[in-house]
Amino acid sequence: MDQTKKSFRLRSQRWFDDPEDPGMTALYIERFLNFGMTRGELQSGKPIIGIAQTGSDIAPCNRHHLALADRVKAGIRDAGGIPLEFPIHPIQETGKRPTAALDRNLAYLSLVEILHGYPIDGVVLTTGCDKTTPACLMGAATVNIPAIVLSGGPMLDGHWKGRLSGSGTIVWEARKQLAAGEINYDGFMQMVASSATSVGHCNTMGTALSMNSLAEALGMSLPGCAAIPAAYRERGQIAHATGMRIVDMVKENLRPSDIMTREAFENTIVLASAIGASSNCPPHLVAIARHMGVHLTTEDWQTFGADIPLLVDCQPAGRFLGEMFYRGGGVQAVMKELAGAGKLHTTVRTVTGRTLAEDLAHAPLADHEVIRPYDKPLLEQAGFVVLSGNLFDNAVMKVSVIDADFRKRFLSDPEDIFEGKVIVFEGPEDYHDRIEDPALGVDDHTVLVIRNCGPVGYPGSAEVVNMQPPGEMIKAGLHSLPTMGDGRQSGTSASPSILNVSPEAAVGGGLALMNSGDRIRINLKTRKVDLLISEEEMATRRAAWTPPKLLNKTPWEEIYRSMVGQLGTGGCLEPATLYLNILETRGES
Ligand code: FES
Ligand code: MG
Repeated sequence: MDQTKKSFRLRSQRWFDDPEDPGMTALYIERFLNFGMTRGELQSGKPIIGIAQTGSDIAPCNRHHLALADRVKAGIRDAGGIPLEFPIHPIQETGKRPTAALDRNLAYLSLVEILHGYPIDGVVLTTGCDKTTPACLMGAATVNIPAIVLSGGPMLDGHWKGRLSGSGTIVWEARKQLAAGEINYDGFMQMVASSATSVGHCNTMGTALSMNSLAEALGMSLPGCAAIPAAYRERGQIAHATGMRIVDMVKENLRPSDIMTREAFENTIVLASAIGASSNCPPHLVAIARHMGVHLTTEDWQTFGADIPLLVDCQPAGRFLGEMFYRGGGVQAVMKELAGAGKLHTTVRTVTGRTLAEDLAHAPLADHEVIRPYDKPLLEQAGFVVLSGNLFDNAVMKVSVIDADFRKRFLSDPEDIFEGKVIVFEGPEDYHDRIEDPALGVDDHTVLVIRNCGPVGYPGSAEVVNMQPPGEMIKAGLHSLPTMGDGRQSGTSASPSILNVSPEAAVGGGLALMNSGDRIRINLKTRKVDLLISEEEMATRRAAWTPPKLLNKTPWEEIYRSMVGQLGTGGCLEPATLYLNILETRGES
């Protein structure tokens, strides 16, 4: 061991072994003894490794981590560390009202307090369900102690009537069948439930699998971690390996700031395009970068991601689910294709301590049925398009899910210009109340707009922009209309929507000034969305605008709304972004 490493004192020794203050040391130690730990263990100089536990009975997507933690602990012990498991605020995407998005920043805050305030030298982040991954990475970035991601893995593939049934994606299809009268209530329930086969998170390339794949692409998990299905034996094995690796990371003082560099974020945007990642990824990645102190913007998704082709054939953009993604080679195989095409910075370091190029030397070869070669993609230029105009600063559109029918109807114009009238809804309740009203006059050149669904408006920002046309239109064969909103949409949805419009209506963004019947022009070539009204008219409407009354139902809603920024800048708690690298050097407590 070299001298610099020898001279390090572990942070945890400030609690458990401070010769200058035996009184406090005794106090810190004595309570840990009460479940059988010994003073010898706590004063052994072995790294104390936290396991940030996101699983619980109310977070079923991550519940598997309760069992995996035993394998992590075994790995930590085998490598000479001491594990301490602790809970962080749970986030269940489908169960939390009003939105799980509201809780990402709360889980982040709670993790920062724990990592900063307790004797922890390094941490295993147990990720899975959508917001648990960014919340954990944001917290690790702020505190900047050695950290490694352990994904929980996707559920096994679902099946329905002889074909694959993927989480979330099957819901959108089942809703259409229910609306068209093709199935009844019971049939609807069975169809939806068919996708949930085992422990694990969503098995489509929705937000969960996307964000775990992005964590691996950032270099924050062991190679191959993201795609292993939750129920496979390899999941328990990588949990053990992850526990072993974090102990060495502490000894090497390998920290998030060594791994999550600007180049790593650029790599991650490229990977996101190639896998057809969820439209929730841009705000999450921008948030992680901001807490890491790396300058990254939504526009970077256009610069680095828009021209990247879609390589991974997974739902909702393609056919397969998590098991085939894993067998096809997972994230490492995709990155190998991308690196081969010269699209990645391969000198970045990962949690392995090696460079990406060194990691990729061990990558599995892609099964080209699932992961296409770079030069034979499923779709060219498949990343997110970042839009702006006279209504907003930025919004994103997921190009990889625009279906052929939609392209033909709306984008056949060589200039890719779409013009139509807007119908504006004041939120999901208003949409559900009125969408079937014939008086709305929805036709096939209507843009459905939903507002007051952003971080401040909802609060948290709701996944509601993927609105369906009226039932009569669906029956007649028109399955989607362009939609736009200041909320988000589920990562499992294949709707051609303009999402995450920032700034949102609730803080006076341009959507607040729209009236139903206004005309709008969407030009995908110039990436401009403009409301076709005069500047004078816009100014008159702005002068007449009053902010909506926001009703807070919990203390956190009020605190969140008073500090949250817009989706375009990550939806962060703005004051929190000023706390960078709060443990400047090891040994500072
Ligand atoms: Fe939790 Fe999809 S709802 S992973
Ligand atoms: Mg979601």
